[in-house]
Amino acid sequence: MITISLPADLRSILATLSRPIGLVPTMGYLHEGHLSLARRAKAECASVVASIFVNPTQFGLNEDYAAYPRNLPRDLALLESAGVDVVWTPAPEIMYPAGYQTYITVEEVTRPLEESMRPGHFRGVATVVVKLFNAVGPQKAYFGQKDAQQVTVIQRMTDDLNFPVEIVVCPTLREADGLAMSSRNAYLTPEQRRAAPVLYRALSTARRAFEQGEHDAKRLRQTMLETLAAEPLTRPQYVSCADPDTLQELQGPVDQALFSMAVYVGKTRLIDNFVYRAGQWLSGEISK
Ligand code: PAJ
Repeated sequence: MITISLPADLRSILATLSRPIGLVPTMGYLHEGHLSLARRAKAECASVVASIFVNPTQFGLNEDYAAYPRNLPRDLALLESAGVDVVWTPAPEIMYPAGYQTYITVEEVTRPLEESMRPGHFRGVATVVVKLFNAVGPQKAYFGQKDAQQVTVIQRMTDDLNFPVEIVVCPTLREADGLAMSSRNAYLTPEQRRAAPVLYRALSTARRAFEQGEHDAKRLRQTMLETLAAEPLTRPQYVSCADPDTLQELQGPVDQALFSMAVYVGKTRLIDNFVYRAGQWLSGEISK
């Protein structure tokens, strides 16, 4: 595995890689969820490039950019074990040199859910993903269902800007108690960690209610809120039952839906989702 931080070095190594190239964009502090993307890329592509870049433009002013957890040596060892060929670790001044002023704005699908709580977030995500696509030129790029709206935004942007890249969406990997794996889980105290699976329980409660015939969007949101309310260490920011394509909040009876939520556990903001589409649930896998 080769680790590269200068654009010229990336260009020369890319010239030697067999196609198709699979790209796995990350912000590092890797866990099994990230590695499942890398392994899938390895299984489907001749070469795998992973990027590690904590992208400042997708963090709000009051968010955790400076404190975001980092451990490059460990990340590199994990990526090597997952079969990654090249790791691209650009410095912030390489991605955003002095005078930088070009951003990608995706419109309707960025407005609800995450963006309403984190203004500017998807402008930063779309911009950095375009820059990664341009730098690496992958044929496939791998993203996690864990960040459901991110997947929708990136698919829209890829189609709209005619990138010849296939977006591959991978299931959410979960801890044994259902908590979705996330670099931010590292912030949780032991007590908060015990409370955190309530997101999964709330989504599972909505799923059970739906399967038992409750299809009213408002009552499904209410079911999730009630489960969350029973856990005093958590503070819901939003709880949503939305159209899985437009991400607009649903009213009345639903046939397919993205069930999603953002919940504070102490100061840590966690997100999770289940999707019901074409008669099937996408809710992620619990690790053995
Ligand atoms: P990051 O949070 O590091 O996540 C990198 C990728 O791993 C994303 O596609 C995310 O959805 C996926 N992922 C995270 N947790 C997962 C889990 N439990 N199971 C499966 N996949 C999981 O998402 C970002 O970084 C950034 O926004 C990025 C796309 C790299 C742009 O900066």
